[in-house]
Order: sequence, then C-alpha cells, then structure tokens
Amino acid sequence: MEHAGNARPVRVGVIGCADIAWRRTLPALVAEPLIEVTAIASRQEKKARQFTDRFGGTPVEGYDSLLERDDVDAVYVPLPAVLHADWIEKALRAGKHVLAEKPLTTDRTQAERLFRIADEQGLLLMENFMFLHHHQHRRVADLLADGVIGEVRSFAASFTIPPKPQGDIRYQAAVGGGALLDIGVYPIRAAGLFLGPGLDVAGAVFRRERSRDVVLGGNALLTTDQGVTAQLVFGMEHSYTNSYEFRGSLGRLWLNRVFTPPATHQPVVSIERQDHLEQIVLPPDDQFANIVRAFAQAVLRGERPQEWTENSLHQASLVDAVQANARNFVFSAGD
Ligand SMILES: NC(=O)c1ccc[n+]([C@@H]2O[C@H](COP(=O)([O-])OP(=O)(O)OC[C@H]3O[C@@H](n4cnc5c(N)ncnc54)[C@H](OP(=O)(O)O)[C@@H]3O)[C@@H](O)[C@H]2O)c1
Repeated sequence: MEHAGNARPVRVGVIGCADIAWRRTLPALVAEPLIEVTAIASRQEKKARQFTDRFGGTPVEGYDSLLERDDVDAVYVPLPAVLHADWIEKALRAGKHVLAEKPLTTDRTQAERLFRIADEQGLLLMENFMFLHHHQHRRVADLLADGVIGEVRSFAASFTIPPKPQGDIRYQAAVGGGALLDIGVYPIRAAGLFLGPGLDVAGAVFRRERSRDVVLGGNALLTTDQGVTAQLVFGMEHSYTNSYEFRGSLGRLWLNRVFTPPATHQPVVSIERQDHLEQIVLPPDDQFANIVRAFAQAVLRGERPQEWTENSLHQASLVDAVQANARNFVFSAGD
C-alpha cells in the first residue's frame, strides 16, 4: 500500500453513533493504517462508550465537545441528511477536514457554501459515496467503451429496500429527509457517473406518504442532450433491489449489488448479445476500505481533488432538479 511519507496518521473523530458507522465505516477506519480513530461523540455518553469499547478512541458526550478537541484532525459525519450542513460547517470552522455521509446536503446552494468554506479554510470536504470507490464500475465503463453492447441507448438503475422500523430517520422529513435523499441519490449518482454531467430531468414521480409528509419512493427519467436516457427507481416500500443495466445497439449489460457490495462479494457482469450470454466474474473489492484510504491520502498530501467537489456539486444540482420536476402522488398509509 502507498504511504504518504512518514506523516503521522490522520486523527479522526466521529460525530453520531450511527448504524452505518458501526457496520461499515468505523471497521474500515480502524483497519486503515493511515488513520487513527481518536474520539467518538454521541448525544449520549453511554452510546459513545459502547462505540469506543469496540473501536477505540475517547468517548465524548456532545458533538461540539468533539470539535473542540486537539487530537482530532478530521471528522466523519454520519448524521441524518438534514443535519449534515450545520455540522459540516461547524466542523470546518473548527479547522477539521470532513468526510460526510451522502447526501452531502439537502440542496446545491448549501453544498456550494460548504465547499467555499472548506476552500477558505484549506480543508478537505469529501462526500462519502462509497460505491464510487469499487473497481466494478471502472470495469463496466471500460467494457462499454470497448463497444461490448454497441452504442449505449439507455441506462436503468434501481435501489429499493423493504420498510424500516417506525421511528427511522428516513421517515422524519425534517431529519432524514425521506427516500429520495437517502436512497434515490444512489441511482442518480450512478447516472451521473456513466452518462456524464450534462443530464437533464425529463420527469419524476414521487410517492409521498400523507401523514408524515415524506417521500417513500419514486422514479425519475433523465436524459443526455443526445437522448440517451436514465430510468431510475428508488424507494423504501419495496423488495430489495440494487442494480443497473445498460441497453445498447447490439446488446444489454447488467450488474447486481452495485451500491452496497460487501468486501467479499464477487461481482458478475452479464452481457447479452442476440442469443449469447457472457458472464464475467470480477475479483472482490472493498469500497469501504478504499474510500477511507482515499480520504486519508488526500488529507495527508494536502489535496482537495477538484473532481470530487465538482461531482458532488453536479449531483446536488441533479437532485434539486429531480425534486423540482417531480409530480407527487400523495397517499395515506393503508390506502
Ligand atoms: N454510505 C453508505 O453506504 C450509507 C449507508 C447507510 C446510510 N448512510 C447515510 O448515513 C447517514 C446516517 O444513516 P444511518 O442509517 O446510519 O442513521 P442512524 O443509525 O439513524 O444514525 C444517525 C445518527 O445521527 C445522530 N443523530 C443526531 N441527531 C439526530 C436526530 N435528531 N435523530 C436521529 N439521529 C440523530 C444519532 O447519533 P447519537 O445518538 O450518537 O448522537 C444517530 O445514531 C445518513 O446520511 C444516511 O444517508 C450512508
């Protein structure tokens, strides 16, 4: 592995004892030699201690207290989406680099503002879209560029999950922001990854639950200026899907487990042309380890990759545009 000279590891603090931190990010952070987890904060000290008992570091009550610490160079923010902007800004103003869960913010204006503050402070702000750091998408892009399905005519992506327990942040519009911000952002980001920054929104439909006033699922249709479309499905009232598919002039290519493959998963790229089906098995890759390493390397080298910033801003614009163009179908639970 590449080390950034003899620099000491990036000392990372975590604000919020989130499920994703427990299951994915903290195991990756503590396994990364370029990182040392020095503190974990919760609104409740007991919860912070439960996390530090497993992952190390000092348990801290209150996020502000963590941001005041001298032994924290960078902060990981796995808070509910609507709270990201405030805490990212506080962390940057406290002089900390930030790795923030997706979606970075709830809209483009806030994202621009935060990147401006990061620039002024000379700090890295990175959105934690882990799937971008799995090699399977590079391989798919190479296969498409080699013309395995001819010219790409359309893209389709789906991320849907079964309902979460009552009280989940995703059902609280003012906290988690609903299914578009939590889940819909994945297929939107995948469309941007493969079809580029020039996407427009042709239409969208949201299923919005009346009593909680929260989006539980929906569809969006995006298009390039050449009429190559992206049909995107997201939601949390579904069976589990996590896949994308390209249709081309000569065939079809598809892949499952595209957004959350575990580190042991061997991706299978399926390519169908006329009566021929080919399946390419790729080696496993660990997107969780890859993204925390990329973050630490950039911090240690003093880099703020412009491409990461532009991609996050473009993504925020697309999400804004999907929301602005969506037709809401409002229903009551039990309808
Ligand atoms: N990159 C990925 O693969 C991935 C996967 C899943 C989720 N996520 C993202 O990660 C973030 C957290 O998701 P999650 O499922 O891990 O959520 P979660 O388990 O509900 O955790 C959110 C944490 O935020 C803190 N918090 C602060 N104010 C809160 C409030 N008013 N209500 C609820 N929690 C509050 C809580 O920590 P304390 O109680 O310790 O203060 C809580 O544990 C979201 O942005 C989500 O989109 C990313």
